[in-house]
Amino acid sequence: MTILVTGGAGFIGANFVLDWLAASSETVVNLDKLTYAGNLETLTSLQNNANHVFVRGDIGDLALVESLLQTHQPRAVVNFAAESHVDRSIHGPGEFIETNIMGTFRLLEAVRGYWSGLPQEEMHPRVKPENDKHLTQSSFRFLHVSTDEVYGSLSKDDPAFAETHRYEPNSPYSASKAASDHLVRAWHHTYGLPVLTTNCSNNYGPYHFPEKLIPLMIVNALAGKPLPVYGDGMQVRDWLYVKDHCSAIRRVLEAGRLGETYNVGGWNEKPNIEIVQTVCKLLDALRPKADGTHYSSQITYVTDRPGHDRRYAIDARKLEQELGWKPAETFESGIRKTVEWYLANPQWVSNVQSGAYRDWVQKQYAGADRKP
Ligand code: NAD
Ligand code: TYD
Repeated sequence: MTILVTGGAGFIGANFVLDWLAASSETVVNLDKLTYAGNLETLTSLQNNANHVFVRGDIGDLALVESLLQTHQPRAVVNFAAESHVDRSIHGPGEFIETNIMGTFRLLEAVRGYWSGLPQEEMHPRVKPENDKHLTQSSFRFLHVSTDEVYGSLSKDDPAFAETHRYEPNSPYSASKAASDHLVRAWHHTYGLPVLTTNCSNNYGPYHFPEKLIPLMIVNALAGKPLPVYGDGMQVRDWLYVKDHCSAIRRVLEAGRLGETYNVGGWNEKPNIEIVQTVCKLLDALRPKADGTHYSSQITYVTDRPGHDRRYAIDARKLEQELGWKPAETFESGIRKTVEWYLANPQWVSNVQSGAYRDWVQKQYAGADRKP
């Protein structure tokens, strides 16, 4: 059997593909546009893995997606592809509308066409062809990966976001993700497409592009640069180790109820300044500065992000109680692993930062062939 993963060269998608292929013999077709955030280097260990088929392309390219679906006949599509950084969405929302809304719409249309051509019922075993893969309209799944940011901002004493919380997105990023969630919902209610949606809190871990808070702080600290904390640094985010997000997606794909949304989080709310201090302390212990000063001396308070959401917090009880999911990492174990990973992988960081690897990829793709 095969699954189609979109955005599988990005932070969470790549972790998902790596984990999936480590545990399963199913083929993964990985469709990624390779924007600045997508890095094939993250997938180097899969170069000789026949179960990984990488395709460079856009989820909004209807003809390409239709042909991939027909060729590979996936039993599921997991949609990670998106523009994902709030600050970028403030400076230039266009790409967010294009990929997160229009791209999801076109992807849904391609998937709907493919799905409606699948057999409705499983055939009787005696008439089943030898190579029948038991793929039917009811066994197919479209899983849409989304964010808790669609729910808006909480004040200090509000209960955490449950799945029933109203949508109140505040940034161009979260508004575009909210729109995509609504499209996915509508394709279920109107056309019967078997969809699942996950709304996860902030992730951290290996292969995180160093524009997001945690990897940026690690990379800037090591480079002796300022650690820019927005506003008073007391905004609260709810942090989940990326591998735990991936295990939640696998669980929802396996057992989630059709048309349902599942919030994913590890009950791990922390103010940003505490996160930055924790990163600094770990670096002090693991890579002490030559001049004996602490990394926290690099912390610099800067102008706040416009429209900055004050607090996010996820109530993950539905996923825990209905599907029995639990995160494997505590914040303490996950953040230590993350800092250790960045210390051990300076080459990955400098490649994604310099764009050298992306230039190499552009050259590789100068010809018509899509496969690296
Ligand atoms: P990312 O920015 O690291 O990766 C996104 C990937 O999508 C990249 O590889 C990029 O090349 C690819 N992509 C972008 N536009 C594309 C297009 N039009 N067609 C095909 N591929 C395209 O993002 P991430 O942090 O890995 O997030 C993945 C998904 O998870 C996103 O949908 C995001 O909204 C969601 N999410 C992220 C977080 C988080 O903390 N990072 C939390 C909850 C949900
Ligand atoms: P980020 O990693 O961009 O994720 P999101 O905006 O999707 O939650 O930011 C996490 C928090 O850290 C958010 O409150 C903004 C803050 N932040 C800083 O204070 N400084 C920074 O340089 C960055 C990138 C983020």
